[in-house]
Amino acid sequence: MLNPLSPDTDDCQGAGPDAGFARRGAGDHPIVGLVREHDVIRLGLDAIATESLRIQRSFEVRLGFWMPALEWLELFVDRDHHAREEEVLFVWLQGAGMPMDRGPLAQVAKEHERARAVRGRMVQAVAIYDVRGLAEAAQEYSDRLRQHMEDEERLLFPLAMECLDAVALGELVIRLAGHRDQIGGAIRERADWLQRELLAGEPSGEDGGPAVP
Ligand SMILES: [Fe+2]
Ligand SMILES: [Fe+2]
Repeated sequence: MLNPLSPDTDDCQGAGPDAGFARRGAGDHPIVGLVREHDVIRLGLDAIATESLRIQRSFEVRLGFWMPALEWLELFVDRDHHAREEEVLFVWLQGAGMPMDRGPLAQVAKEHERARAVRGRMVQAVAIYDVRGLAEAAQEYSDRLRQHMEDEERLLFPLAMECLDAVALGELVIRLAGHRDQIGGAIRERADWLQRELLAGEPSGEDGGPAVP
């Protein structure tokens, strides 16, 4: 869990609480867009938690579930959502005066790396059919990511909103959209297909989705 942000918040040189956010309204605010993505990620974690309980009873690693689930975590959570936060939002916050080597930014960046490492353990567990290892890693991944998203929503994102003036908000919108374009339509289409499979509850196990070149 993140520590209280003061005195680092004093480094923010923005226009104060509600700057930009109130003027644009919450509906199209880029930070609100990130929170909506958190809600999608939570649904994916719910599906993973359900499957984790199942494998603890059945001792079966259903590849038809885990292959699309782990690929979705890589493409959507890591390469899209987390990378966009790291390469756009965190960089922008650093530019607004928030230190990257301590405080909330350092902590959330570290949490991204830990989550990637635990995802790697899940991939490894599936590869060697380690049922117990997979269940443990999936539980740890879910717990870490849920706490991380709560930290961002409760502390980091409100702080980002405080730093935003109208000009910065406009720049942030453009940069976040630009990052999504940079990822490429093929990866986003593939991630969307995997997400539909995952959230359907019973993935077919047949990979009929779009390919990533
Ligand atoms: Fe994050
Ligand atoms: Fe996030």
